[in-house]
Amino acid sequence: MHLGGPVSISWNLQRYGLWGARWLARALSYRAWLKLTPSGRREAAFDEINDIETEGYISREDLMLPADSIHYAPIKPQQFFSIVSKLKIDRRAFTFIDVGCGKGRPLLLAESMGFAKIIGVELSAKLTEIARKNTERFGAQIIAGNAAAFQFPAEQSVVFLFNPFWSPTIDEFADNLSQSLAVHPRELYVVYVNPFCEVAFERQSNLNLIFRVPNYYAIYQSLVRKGSTPASPDVEDHTIIIH
Ligand SMILES: C[S@@+](CC[C@H](N)C(=O)[O-])C[C@H]1O[C@@H](n2cnc3c(N)ncnc32)[C@H](O)[C@@H]1O
Repeated sequence: MHLGGPVSISWNLQRYGLWGARWLARALSYRAWLKLTPSGRREAAFDEINDIETEGYISREDLMLPADSIHYAPIKPQQFFSIVSKLKIDRRAFTFIDVGCGKGRPLLLAESMGFAKIIGVELSAKLTEIARKNTERFGAQIIAGNAAAFQFPAEQSVVFLFNPFWSPTIDEFADNLSQSLAVHPRELYVVYVNPFCEVAFERQSNLNLIFRVPNYYAIYQSLVRKGSTPASPDVEDHTIIIH
């Protein structure tokens, strides 16, 4: 969705249907929150406060990414915290992996939430360099390359995707993840925001959908779990919980 495009309700409805209308409603209330509340103003100054550069939109063409890749646009900190905190796990025992990490914003946010180890995978060389710079203070591991070829560490992990790519890359990625779980069964969560290609994860026999907020995000859990308590059922009204 082009952030610089027209933002009228009718334009969004025509172009993107109900999904577009919901997106627009969220975007407008978010903008109001940014301007009118102290926590919103802190969020607006996120880069400045943290002395980093993660804001802004960069098109797929400018990044010279393949046709099934998505442009760069960072997740909102508030959105990230509210989604990731749904996982009632001991984060100190988990590796956080951002798939398509862009400039590294989710890596910084995950670090502030106390994850044991932080990994980012990014296809664009330009964004990889920025992510390394933004995270050098705590030494995140930034891997340059196509996420479809990512070698998953055999560790308890939270795999985060902010809609980085479509099919066929998402299918290859999900198949590899499932294969890695088959070889090294472990507790793992997939947090998929703007889940346009949910079917890629739904068809994996060793992943189970545990939360879904339609058209917003989905969380999957590996079927083998050790130790931690399940993700909290204490979620928004409109969330369907499947066990
Ligand atoms: C919507 S942005 C999300 C950025 C970051 N995760 C965030 O939330 O701030 C999607 C990112 O996925 C990256 N990407 C697209 N295709 C990729 C691929 N095949 N492998 C790795 N990264 C990819 C893009 O370069 C872009 O940085």
